Amino acid sequence: MRIPVLAANWKMFKTVGETVSYLKEFCALTAGVSGAEMVVAPPFTAIRAASEAARGSNVGIAAQDCYWEQEGAFTGEISVRMLKDAGACYVIVGHSERRRLFGDTDERVNRKLGAVLAAGLTPIVCIGETLEERDAGRTLAVLDRQVEAGLAGLTPAQVASLVIAYEPVWAIGTGRNATPAQAGEAHAHIRGKLAATFGAEAAAACRILYGGSVKPENIKDLMAIEDVDGALVGGASLTVSSFFAIVSGAQLV
Ligand code: 13P
Repeated sequence: MRIPVLAANWKMFKTVGETVSYLKEFCALTAGVSGAEMVVAPPFTAIRAASEAARGSNVGIAAQDCYWEQEGAFTGEISVRMLKDAGACYVIVGHSERRRLFGDTDERVNRKLGAVLAAGLTPIVCIGETLEERDAGRTLAVLDRQVEAGLAGLTPAQVASLVIAYEPVWAIGTGRNATPAQAGEAHAHIRGKLAATFGAEAAAACRILYGGSVKPENIKDLMAIEDVDGALVGGASLTVSSFFAIVSGAQLV
């Protein structure tokens, strides 16, 4: 059985103080939640404080990105070893904003993924097509390429431990989420691709989240889709009440 994951990607929002007060409230509210993994990804600067605020709770802390080298002359970069030391258990890799604005390619995603796995942390790997790619009928081919190149060289056991987030780029921050049919098609395709490449067992164990305008109002319908194992939430995760409503909604299914 795949345990659902509800993950908050805060992007470039929240100071240390805002992070701590959010997590204290959120951890108290979710103390009784079982049967779902909850994850919060604050900015790098708040990871240490977040992990301290969430200690003893069932909320895990994620980083939003990483660099693949352990250390060295890489000004501005942060290694997985440093993230682990700060208390992160998960690392988001290949978010479309990193791909589009900061030059992450499938090859870079693959190197980051290797570093996260080598450190024993759980990667949350983002894939998804742009609007142009969808309109051109290339959605499934793009997903295939991102899985093939992004996950190249991984073992079936590593794939089983992965979290993948399907985030159609046109649905991020637009208020326009994928329809259940669109999400269902993409998720089933990704799982089929994983099965063909890494075997049925790895594919069946890998959690595939949906991301893109997830809100308390649409989480139930998304979670009802067979291959949707949770959500990666941006804007609607920034307030405790709305992320908690998403966690609650996801669990009702
Ligand atoms: P929104 O939920 O704000 O659309 O963002 C989705 C996202 O990018 C999560 O990583």
